[in-house]
Amino acid sequence: MERIELLIPGSKIEARVKELGREISSDYQGMKPILVSILKGSFLFLADLTRAIDVPHEIDFLSVSSYGSSTQSTGVVRLLKDLGTNIGDRDVLVVEDIVDTGLTWRYIRNNLLTRGPTSLRIVTLLDKRERRVVDVPVDYVGFVIPDRFVVGYGLDYQERYRNLPYIGALDDSSLQDSGVSYQGSGKENDFKN
Ligand code: IMP
Ligand code: MG
Repeated sequence: MERIELLIPGSKIEARVKELGREISSDYQGMKPILVSILKGSFLFLADLTRAIDVPHEIDFLSVSSYGSSTQSTGVVRLLKDLGTNIGDRDVLVVEDIVDTGLTWRYIRNNLLTRGPTSLRIVTLLDKRERRVVDVPVDYVGFVIPDRFVVGYGLDYQERYRNLPYIGALDDSSLQDSGVSYQGSGKENDFKN
């Protein structure tokens, strides 16, 4: 059994998501953006954020697989489910749970840019900035967090804990005991979205 340490309580998440919603609403005045939620991790964030944004907008979903050991260094990400919407000439706001190394966001960004959006930005609930390995622009950030493996509010550890109403950190010994490598040990990463 893993031990989970409370990092961000639900009340703080709720307040911050409302602030992000206000900021995004003011930046997108007079526009009709499309919010692209990256599955699965951002489903709860999207659900709360869409209700905190008061400009007309659409939502769509994109599902990608995170890197494994062989692709980690190259940033190759597999597209599992594509958008249902043509985003050409649209204002696109990607909704992510977390930007960690930045490889996933770089892949998604380059992929979406080929489709000719008018604008393309990202809002991420969490930013694990100190782990970044690629320089990629991040527009809206809920919380900058330390280099810990986190779960809850959509984020999982081996598909568990997505339903926690707060963000918690798994303790490092839990991760090591279960054979999951983290913090640059060079072994296989298998973090699901
Ligand atoms: P990247 O390293 O920025 O490419 O992040 C890849 C993906 O790994 C994210 O979209 C998350 O799905 C997942 N991930 C990264 N860090 C964590 C974490 O601390 N908890 C759960 N998932 C994570
Ligand atoms: Mg994700």
